[in-house]
Amino acid sequence: MRVWIITCNAAEAAFMEQHEILAKMRSVIDELPQLPGSVNRILKVLEDPEAGVRKITEAVMPDPALTTKVLKVANSAYYGFSATIASVSRAVPLLGLETIKSLALSLGVFESMGRDQKDSELIPKNELWLHSLTVADTMVEMAKRLDVEAEYLFIMGFLHDVGKLVLARSFPDLYKECLDRAFEEGRDLSEIERKMIRFDHGEVGALLLTRWKFPKVLVNPVRFHHKDKLPSGPDTVDVAMVRVADALANRLLHGEDHPKSRIRQADLDYLELQQSELESLYAYQKEAEEKVSSWLAALN
Ligand SMILES: [Fe+2]
Ligand SMILES: [Fe+2]
Repeated sequence: MRVWIITCNAAEAAFMEQHEILAKMRSVIDELPQLPGSVNRILKVLEDPEAGVRKITEAVMPDPALTTKVLKVANSAYYGFSATIASVSRAVPLLGLETIKSLALSLGVFESMGRDQKDSELIPKNELWLHSLTVADTMVEMAKRLDVEAEYLFIMGFLHDVGKLVLARSFPDLYKECLDRAFEEGRDLSEIERKMIRFDHGEVGALLLTRWKFPKVLVNPVRFHHKDKLPSGPDTVDVAMVRVADALANRLLHGEDHPKSRIRQADLDYLELQQSELESLYAYQKEAEEKVSSWLAALN
């Protein structure tokens, strides 16, 4: 299958095959800064249900930048602890193990993906990370209400749109056209991405996470979050949760009538979420805005 890739000058279109598109994205991924070692250590901790304060502290501490940021979050105005929190071992019980694990992971990823300014013009970073953190936090809250395992949900939500950064770096001109068309025509971005680049940002995000050796349980929901149909299999719950949390976060940012805020009935049916529960989750999301903003401030 051949597709047209438009260069800076739209009149000068270059001809690329699908495998060349993949090769280009892979080379962009390979050029990204290495993920901090702490990310892999924390992923190992996540796999161990018995891991407690000591293990997570040991995973974070060897990374001074990460330690500083975890402490920055713990000392942010949102949490309002009266005394200064000066050590990770002190921050862990105060913020809760899950929050520390999730923040440490997302901070590590942010270190790798967040620094480069090349793609900032196309994808405003603060907007992307704020949306991602909102989705992540909503997924954890949804998991509590649905009584499902939440281990990977925060990082899954945080990374669900990371493929946009890879697309923006791989094909800046073409991706600008995708974004412009989605905006001007009020159409779904992923649909335009598939048409123009043959891959949507979910699939591209999965490519990146696979390259980073993230576990499959985390990769697949990212891969499928824009597929028309809810895939069947062990990942179905997670995929449905990403999609619902994503739509709710878009409603918060763009309003209820925006096409991105549309929630698929099939996802709600699968999760057995009633309309009233959805509204209550949306209310939670609005209340959590301050907390999520404090996380973003610590990331920067
Ligand atoms: Fe997305
Ligand atoms: Fe999203």
